[in-house]
Amino acid sequence: MGQKKLIKFAAIKEYNNVLEFPQDMQGKWATFFDGLKKGKSTIDISSLLISDGQFVSNVSSINKEDNASTPLTLELACGRGEYVVGLGRMFPEQHFIGIDLKGNRIWKGASIANKDGLTNVAFVRSQIELTSNYFAKKEVDEIWITFPDPQLRWSKSKKRLTHPKFLRLYQQFLKNDGIVHLKTDSPLLYNFTLKVIELYGLHLIYKTDNLYAEQNIDPRCLIKTYYEGLDIAQSNKIHYIQFNIDGDLPLELDEILKEAIKDIPMDAGELLRMEAEAARAKKED
Ligand SMILES: C[S@@+](CC[C@H](N)C(=O)[O-])C[C@H]1O[C@@H](n2cnc3c(N)ncnc32)[C@H](O)[C@@H]1O
Repeated sequence: MGQKKLIKFAAIKEYNNVLEFPQDMQGKWATFFDGLKKGKSTIDISSLLISDGQFVSNVSSINKEDNASTPLTLELACGRGEYVVGLGRMFPEQHFIGIDLKGNRIWKGASIANKDGLTNVAFVRSQIELTSNYFAKKEVDEIWITFPDPQLRWSKSKKRLTHPKFLRLYQQFLKNDGIVHLKTDSPLLYNFTLKVIELYGLHLIYKTDNLYAEQNIDPRCLIKTYYEGLDIAQSNKIHYIQFNIDGDLPLELDEILKEAIKDIPMDAGELLRMEAEAARAKKED
């Protein structure tokens, strides 16, 4: 690992707004943010233990009811965390957590949140596959997935972050009417996600294959991430979907999905451009 990366990895260990592979945090995020707001230099996880089914905390004067109802939004595969930082500025009364495995990328967003006193923004360094360990049932209100790797190869479609395998995971902690937002420059990932929504009978709230051509854009959609700026797919179009995971996701349908997505057309140059750009981004890290 390069020297710069090592410095960033060491720095986030000292940050009170970054937790790495946290333990025993299910249902305790409201209290965690209360600690951040009170300027605790470190959050003592042992102070957040559950005893006899009762919530116990040594953080004084917490209004538990207010905290518990504070909306919590996740940004998955957050990279540098532009969305959690941007949303955190827009909605100071809500809580936001960015999740990514790469500590050097998280460092960027966490440093900005620290510098600007955004005590409603935090980061978790972890694999997305482990997220159900960190959040309690119905603890999360919304999920943003911004410019994830589209995993273009058909054989890798199970790694797409809107594959039912992942949606089943999100269902474990998302509220019933919770919203998933996908913003991508990949037509293939966009069409794949629409196919999932259709096949599993999920509720599609909104879709567009050209976000910036729309009238009355949701201001949240105007936040730009590092990868959006790279315009890897060179599609010149940002695709955006909003949906609920409001039904069962039967495993039997996964095989049907696998066949159904074989026909989704891919922009001829998309794969080549993606590979070239991914190699470049890796070098930059
Ligand atoms: C293409 S980047 C997008 C980053 C950011 N959302 C943006 O738009 O700039 C994809 C990110 O997903 C993260 N990632 C991919 N798979 C992951 C996983 N299974 N668990 C955690 N992070 C993952 C990578 O570390 C990387 O930062």
